[in-house]
Amino acid sequence: MGLLIKNIRCLVQTEENPVLKICGKEMSDLNTLSDAFLLMSNGKIEDFGRMDDLNAGTVSLPGSGYEEIDATGRLVFPSFCDPHTHLVFAGSREKEFTDKIRGLSYEEIAKRGGGILNSARLLRKTSEDELFEQSAVRVNEIISQGTGAVEIKSGYGLTTADEIKMLRVIRRIRETFDIEVRSTFLGAHAVPDEYRGKPGSNVGKYVGQYVEQYVEQYVDLVINEMIPLVASEQLADYIDVFCDRGFFTAEETERIVMAGLKYGLIPKLHANELDYSGGVQVGVKYGALSVDHLECTGDAEIEALLGSQTMPTLLPGSAFFLGLPDPPARKMIDSGLPVALASDYNPGSSPSGNMKLIMSLGCIRLKMLPEEVINAVTINAAYAMGLSETHGSIARGKVANVFITREMSSYEYMPYAFGSDLIETVILKGKVLV
Ligand code: NIG
Ligand code: FE
Repeated sequence: MGLLIKNIRCLVQTEENPVLKICGKEMSDLNTLSDAFLLMSNGKIEDFGRMDDLNAGTVSLPGSGYEEIDATGRLVFPSFCDPHTHLVFAGSREKEFTDKIRGLSYEEIAKRGGGILNSARLLRKTSEDELFEQSAVRVNEIISQGTGAVEIKSGYGLTTADEIKMLRVIRRIRETFDIEVRSTFLGAHAVPDEYRGKPGSNVGKYVGQYVEQYVEQYVDLVINEMIPLVASEQLADYIDVFCDRGFFTAEETERIVMAGLKYGLIPKLHANELDYSGGVQVGVKYGALSVDHLECTGDAEIEALLGSQTMPTLLPGSAFFLGLPDPPARKMIDSGLPVALASDYNPGSSPSGNMKLIMSLGCIRLKMLPEEVINAVTINAAYAMGLSETHGSIARGKVANVFITREMSSYEYMPYAFGSDLIETVILKGKVLV
């Protein structure tokens, strides 16, 4: 059973000799093929090339029973890879959106017990089935927006049972949908209420209007109870810590990362969003697959990343939504680093998983070229979730995850037309879904 897409105006991100990631100056190169065909069978990319060759009969087609799509005037892209999301969450936080418009910062909202803790309270009251149903709506949404592989984090449970509940929901998403899923354990996303000395708490001590944090005890819980359990149920591929001012320090991050590595959990860290937290350096030291956010990145962070295998992953949706200064993407690329982009889909700092919009923000806010953003949301994003051998480009033998656009003039039109829905047909594992 196969699928043949014919008369493609432009087949984007083709690779004859696949690479795992693209760095520096090379990010502005993009391989494309005009007037092309793409042949898929058994869920994989079988072949691609020029229509002339197909018409001349030099391409071997599956004997019979394959479907044909005529893509005249349309472009075909490899599906987006989104290597950083928190799309399993309960409810939404639009009240905080209004607080932000009125002038409160993300950190002020968090200090008042809003933010991540607000989502944690709601998630704890939500059953596993209900959480799956709510999350499934978001998964269907991002599939229709062109995403074919996604990383999803825990981190709104913040008790052992609720973190496990979130990770089981992620596993169920992986088993239910055709989208490729990678799972990350983020027990250290915030210090939960019970460890902040709230009245009635049996861990912390309430000290008037101030809240004394018992971070060390919570870190111990993550290390001694959560990580071993998560690993024993094989619920996560990666481990994350929110290493930033007001959340977890570089030292705490280091302890947690070392504990995760003992169980084979590779780090992928939240780093340097709110301050120069040292998170980038910790990530590089422990061989993180990616360090993410990086709004606060200077020469020392760039120096640490150069020569490492760690992918800097930028989340322009959250910097845009929170009004934070943008990460220095241009400087990073010009220094020779690779860059990946992700949506950070979550209820507090980026309530959108739309990777096409992320491409536009990459161009408009981060001053990345269209070719650079396309590399950043495909092959480099695949790398940031350990998938670049099988996803992130049009290469023979890779998973047949692609989308067909509406009729349009060029690939630059994708990030340029930032508010238009340009994706017409979604194909995952060689099957037409939308
Ligand atoms: O990546 N920065 C930390 N975590 C999320 C926000 C989570 C939330 O506010 O709910 C982020 O932006
Ligand atoms: Fe995040």
